[in-house]
Amino acid sequence: MLSAERILERCESLAQHSELPGGLTRVFLSPQARAATDKVLGWMREAGMQAKLDAIGNAGGRYEGNRPGLPCLMLGSHLDTVRDAGKYDGMLGVISAIECVSFLNTNNKRLPFAIEVLGFGDEEGVRFGTTLLGSRAVAGTFDLAVLKAKDPQGKTMADALREFGLDPEGIPTIARRQGDVLAYAELHIEQGPVLESEGLPVGVVTAINGFSRLRVTLRGAAGHAGTVPMNLRRDALAGAAECALAVERVAKSHAELVGTVGRFEVKPGAINVIPGEVMFTVDVRAPRDSLREQALATIRAEIERVCKARQLRSEIENLQDFGVTSCAPRLIGQMERAVASQGFRVRRLPSGAGHDGMALGAITEICMLFVRCKLGISHSPLESITKEDADAGVKVLSEFIRSFS
Ligand code: GLV
Ligand code: MN
Ligand code: MN
Repeated sequence: MLSAERILERCESLAQHSELPGGLTRVFLSPQARAATDKVLGWMREAGMQAKLDAIGNAGGRYEGNRPGLPCLMLGSHLDTVRDAGKYDGMLGVISAIECVSFLNTNNKRLPFAIEVLGFGDEEGVRFGTTLLGSRAVAGTFDLAVLKAKDPQGKTMADALREFGLDPEGIPTIARRQGDVLAYAELHIEQGPVLESEGLPVGVVTAINGFSRLRVTLRGAAGHAGTVPMNLRRDALAGAAECALAVERVAKSHAELVGTVGRFEVKPGAINVIPGEVMFTVDVRAPRDSLREQALATIRAEIERVCKARQLRSEIENLQDFGVTSCAPRLIGQMERAVASQGFRVRRLPSGAGHDGMALGAITEICMLFVRCKLGISHSPLESITKEDADAGVKVLSEFIRSFS
């Protein structure tokens, strides 16, 4: 039997592995990630899979088809979280996929293809600023240059991997070849309010919006907050604040655009010192690549304008760009039939959030199933789903797997 109860218990169980007392924060390559990953590997083995940690820190399990070595249907999602996160973003997809394999295994059922379940080590990009590290390694698009990226404590990704017991040089070896993977399917909470507003437990994703991420550093002059007259200041924070408002203005200029300044680091960061240097991040997303690219160009121009007017120096680092990833029409059709087979109305919708499927899209066709979440809230401890919806999601996924071709 597919058990929604077990799925939710496992989401709770993974949420215990957190660096945030009383809440959930689990970043890439942390001791908490190690404990959660080991737990997931154990569940994979219990479900009849061969399971192991790979060179980037993903938990990977394989359930052979009706003969060994067949190409696989890949399922999965991520095991890392944002800071002060919910318990379902990422984890629900991994645990539901394991539940589907457990169901097959209990019934001694083998399919004409293998199934692989991946619990990706990094999707959120919280620790090193760039995202989708686990899935890009599997897709063979991991840029080895990011091994030099540093976390806020100054540790490089390469060193963090070694501390985790992994060999960074092994990363290229986990890349799959086209043909090894028949398709990638991911179950994920919706992270938006559409399904709830329409009274539907699940929805079928059409495409994942593209995103771009920048890290911007503005440099002015630090000085005494009491002695330097206002007209002689080069205050990096006042300039950065103006830039953040420009990001908001640009994003608001088009209904399909969203733009966020999510981090601000002020140096030296004292009440009586004029800020000399500020780092902030920019995240821009859109369902059309040309719209996102145009918005980004405008934001860059606005930053330059602000800096010129305020005599600040700017450094703009492009952390990542990802184009829109479309779900494959044939897989959308198969997922829709699985939804209808469980008696639910079929609802198609795009994804505003990023997902591991964006990376897997480089080697295979992808599709996604969204599960309703309360008030559409995610990236928050208020993230919540019902047992009935977890049940609906896993049943649809299981039916999709059974009839996948
Ligand atoms: C991941 O959740 C993202 O969309 O940033
Ligand atoms: Mn997320
Ligand atoms: Mn996610």
